[in-house]
Amino acid sequence: MASTYQEIFEYNKKWIAEKTASNPDFFHNLSIEQKPEYLFIGCSDSRVDPDTFTGLSLGDVFVHRNVSNIVNPIDLNVASVIQYAITNLKVKHIIVCGHYGCGGIKAAMQDEGIGKNSPWLQIIKDIYRIHKTEMERIKDETKRYDRLVELNVIEQTENVKGMDCVQSLKNTVDYPQIHGWIFDMRTGKIVDLEINSKVDKKVVAADSLFKKVISIFKRQ
Ligand code: CO
Repeated sequence: MASTYQEIFEYNKKWIAEKTASNPDFFHNLSIEQKPEYLFIGCSDSRVDPDTFTGLSLGDVFVHRNVSNIVNPIDLNVASVIQYAITNLKVKHIIVCGHYGCGGIKAAMQDEGIGKNSPWLQIIKDIYRIHKTEMERIKDETKRYDRLVELNVIEQTENVKGMDCVQSLKNTVDYPQIHGWIFDMRTGKIVDLEINSKVDKKVVAADSLFKKVISIFKRQ
């Protein structure tokens, strides 16, 4: 591990030697093309580096990171990343990954300091407002922060699903699986919010309820 600026370059030399020792073509192969199956949208936090806790390595993950893993539809940066990832790279999975203890989420919940008038964090303040009843029912402050981290991830996956480039792939084989994760740095664990299965269950439940109502009307 490097700890000083100069050590970064010393580490880099050792890393190159290590990689080429077991595979002399390692960098040649790496330079040809990328075929990542995953798009990772995470927080810029220095402790949320997907390469370190997923076992995925160079070439496996296309990455976009910003403060509090926000997918704002008017953000050209994230929109371009998603578009390129699904239309050119044809990634199979889009992962929105938040993390407990997120400074951006904390700042958005506070009335003073950096979050007070931040245009970037406004979207999180809006999420809080939308889920205010649930949020205010949680008395423990840490649990309330944790829940907002989760709600933010869920809302951002909805924003991913709503993007035109994603919508246009609906009902095609290229439509990616969209996941919501929380990286719990207190334990190192990835928590999968299982957004797809939950949504599916809700859709199925609503569909069967709809059919029940229709059949009652038909009987009358
Ligand atoms: Co964060």
